[in-house]
Amino acid sequence: MSQSQRRATDAVVSTRNARRTYYLGEPVHALDGVSLSLPEGSFTAVMGPSGSGKSTLMNLLGCLDTPDEGDVEIDGQPVAGLSGAERARLRGTEIGFIFQTFNLMPRLTAAENATLPMVFNKDVGVGRRERAEQLLTRVGLGDRLDHDPTELSGGQRQRVAIARALVNEPSLVLADEPTGNLDTDTGAEIMELFEALHDEGRTILMVTHERQIAEHAERIVHLVDGQIEEIEQLDDSAGAKREVITDETD
Ligand SMILES: Nc1ncnc2c1ncn2[C@@H]1O[C@H](COP(=O)(O)OP(=O)(O)O)[C@@H](O)[C@H]1O
Ligand SMILES: [Mg+2]
Repeated sequence: MSQSQRRATDAVVSTRNARRTYYLGEPVHALDGVSLSLPEGSFTAVMGPSGSGKSTLMNLLGCLDTPDEGDVEIDGQPVAGLSGAERARLRGTEIGFIFQTFNLMPRLTAAENATLPMVFNKDVGVGRRERAEQLLTRVGLGDRLDHDPTELSGGQRQRVAIARALVNEPSLVLADEPTGNLDTDTGAEIMELFEALHDEGRTILMVTHERQIAEHAERIVHLVDGQIEEIEQLDDSAGAKREVITDETD
């Protein structure tokens, strides 16, 4: 999926009437008919009570799971039509995942963790070590390449995880409670990185239960009982527009 071939209004990924039911005794309708599109370059937050289906939705959008009913399309291509191997390749090359618990490999260094997804062999033009240096410098850890996760703070671990998510230059970044294990100040620093990713034109979907964190996005999808209750636009362009108008009258 090439970013340049896509029109600005195209959805990078979308679900249409997606349902996902878990059968453990009583059926649980984790997602109960969700239609959502992520336009290219958009930044969406998903909020909702525990158990409302946030992670299930993220897993469907990220090709980690498939719906029982309805469709998921990535770049206009139905995910249901792909083989397991094709889905894995799509995940590895086009989607970056960031999790609440960082999910770093404990015995690997920051540099080794950050470059693990290079196993998918998407050509990023440089070797592993150089790529690790580029990425870790970008997230502010250029001096921590050879540290183990145990030698890093929570915020630093999440930075390594963000570097890892970016290693193959994915067009889509999916984050499940990325600040959930961090204190408020560290969470705010991590959000600065997310805003930089957004400014670079990446498409972002971020699950969070913190309103303050969600407000870094352009809109908030509110999930309740596996359904979209509301999509709240957080339009801060009013302020930007006022500035433009002031400029024009100068
Ligand atoms: N692998 C699973 N097996 C059975 N039930 C699950 C599984 N994953 C999630 N669920 C159930 O689906 C519902 C939605 O879960 P989830 O998407 O994880 O919610 P959230 O991320 O909003 O807390 C919950 O009731 C949860 O218990
Ligand atoms: Mg969850």
